[in-house]
Order: sequence, then structure tokens, then C-alpha cells
Amino acid sequence: MPPYQQGRPAPQGGFKLSSNENPFPPLPAVVEAVQREAERVNRYPRPGAPELRSALAAELGVDAARILIGDGSATLIQQLIHAVAGPGDEVVYAWRSFDAYPLFVRTGGATPVEVPVDAEHRHDLDAMAAAITPRTRAVIVCTPNNPTGTIVGEEELDAFIARVPKDVLILLDEAYIEFVREPTGNGIELQRQHENLVVLRTFSKAHGLAGLRVGYAVGDPAVLRGADLCGVPLSQTALASAAAIAALEHVGETFARIEVLADRRDALWQRLVDAGVPVPRPHGNFFWVPSRPGQEEHVHDILEANRIVAKVFPDGSRISVGEPEADDHILAAAVAIQALQ
Ligand SMILES: Cc1ncc(COP(=O)(O)O)c(C=O)c1O
Repeated sequence: MPPYQQGRPAPQGGFKLSSNENPFPPLPAVVEAVQREAERVNRYPRPGAPELRSALAAELGVDAARILIGDGSATLIQQLIHAVAGPGDEVVYAWRSFDAYPLFVRTGGATPVEVPVDAEHRHDLDAMAAAITPRTRAVIVCTPNNPTGTIVGEEELDAFIARVPKDVLILLDEAYIEFVREPTGNGIELQRQHENLVVLRTFSKAHGLAGLRVGYAVGDPAVLRGADLCGVPLSQTALASAAAIAALEHVGETFARIEVLADRRDALWQRLVDAGVPVPRPHGNFFWVPSRPGQEEHVHDILEANRIVAKVFPDGSRISVGEPEADDHILAAAVAIQALQ
């Protein structure tokens, strides 16, 4: 099984655009909260991070019993898959999508069913619904999709959910939802209507807490209990919970930063399109620059020459929105990658 490829570190004087991190430093209130909590690290954290669950419950308008905290949303996705799918079972998801999914499915002993995205790099929901068999235990919808940046519209998501059997778990991975500007479905609202749906969100991206590892799931309490049993007790640190609570208390500052990043994303996307690079419209904090299998080494060379690191796949590269100074480097690299075609 190929290991998960973590984004490479930045070259000297270059830009790390390989992990969809937030280029802004943590908010001062977050740093203070972590420092305060650091005084108590001789103690284990409280199980289940109840203070963070209460803060999220108030923020989202849901009962705290419908929230499960994890050390990153990736961990929660793994727990949910392991809770429902084992040997002989199948998990359906779009491909290409988040490259941790196949790992989580296979380590649970289940079989991944990868449904190619369409020509516009979007989930092919008809094909995904058709891929559901009596062996299917879970389907994953990633919106915005990592790494292609496309979203699933509200109506098409509703229609898809209606086609999924009620005993199949739907994981709605909204790791980048805060960056979306288009009107789109509200996963939390959908969750209220469908007890087989779980929404996954994270503090790693928009909130800029990637280094602390904290994410959450919103779902039916019985489903979340199953996922909780598949996790390691006490794996969410009190430092992470304190930081996430501080982030929620200052969410206005975070949203102002998101606006800045989304403005820069949209402006740079326009420049990419004007330069003839066929980048699908990005809705997260990253761009998808298509390339062809066999070109990976050339792509790496181009990225290196432009002093950026990005995540390179056989069919394209995912380049994160980073510091403003990186924008011209991204444009130049994407144009050179396109010229390889
Ligand atoms: C689509 C998607 N889901 C989930 C995650 C997991 O994020 P974390 O475990 O940092 O919360 C990521 C991280 O890159 C992602 O891209």
C-alpha cells in the first residue's frame, strides 16, 4: 500500500504550497490560549473535549451530543470508515479526491470503489450512485474537492442523497467549506434531515490550526458513538481544544482573513485562465493545474525553478494559495506546466 504523501517542505527562500495550509500566522488570542494551557500539560485532557463541543454546539446551533471532536478531521474520517466498513465491504468516493481515503478504506480491510471525476473535475454523482451495491457501507462526498477544487451544488447533493440507501453512511467532507463563495448546500442543515449523513470539518485550513490537529464531525449520536469507539481515547490535546475555542471566539478575524485569501484566489485564477491554463474554478484555498502521466519529473523541475513546492500527482498538481509574493511564481509555474502538454 503506498504511504500518504505529505506535502514537501519549502526550498530555501521558497514557498511551501503543498499542504493547503493557511499562510497567516495564528491569531494572538490563539497563541495566548495555547500558552495558558501549556501550564497544565502534566495532566491528561478531558475526554471528548467537552468545552470545545459546547462552544461548537453554540456556534453551529446543534446539540453537543451530535458533535465528535477528533485530532484532525482526517482521523475522524478514518474512525467513521473503520466503524462501518471491513473485509468484504466497499466504500465509494470520487477519484481523484483526498488521497487519504484509499488508505483509510484499505487499513479497515474494506475495498475502495473509486469513481472518476467528470471532464470538469467534478464529482460524477450519477456514476457514484450507480456504483453503490449491497456491499457498499459508506460513500464520501468531498466539497470543495481536494485536489480539484470543485464543489457539489445543493440540488445535485440533495438528489444524490435521495439515491443513497438509508443504511449506507454518507460522509460529507467539508474541510474547505469556509472558502466557498458560491451559494452551496448547508451540510449541518442536511445532517438534521438525514441520520445516515455525517459532516466533517476542520480547524486546520480556514482557522489556521493545522499544527495542532483538531477537527470535528456532526452527525447522529449513535453513528458518532461507533466512530468514537474506533479512536484512541484522549487523543485530542487540551492545547488543541483551547486554541479551537479561542479561534471560535475570534471567528470574525478569521473570516476577514478568509476574504483576503478568497479574493487573492479568485484574482489569481482569472490570471491563470487568461494565460490559457485550464484550471477548474477553485472553491477551496488551492488550484488544480492539470498535467499528463509521465510528466511528474518535469513538473517538479518547473516548480523548483519557480521556488515553490506543490503536491504533484500523475494527472496534475495541487498548488495552495500562499503568501502574496508567491502568486507570480504560481502563475509562471502553471504556464510552464501547461506548455508541457
Ligand atoms: C479534503 C480533506 N479532508 C480532510 C482533511 C484533513 O484535515 P485535518 O486532519 O488536518 O483536519 C484534509 C487535509 O488536507 C483534506 O484536504
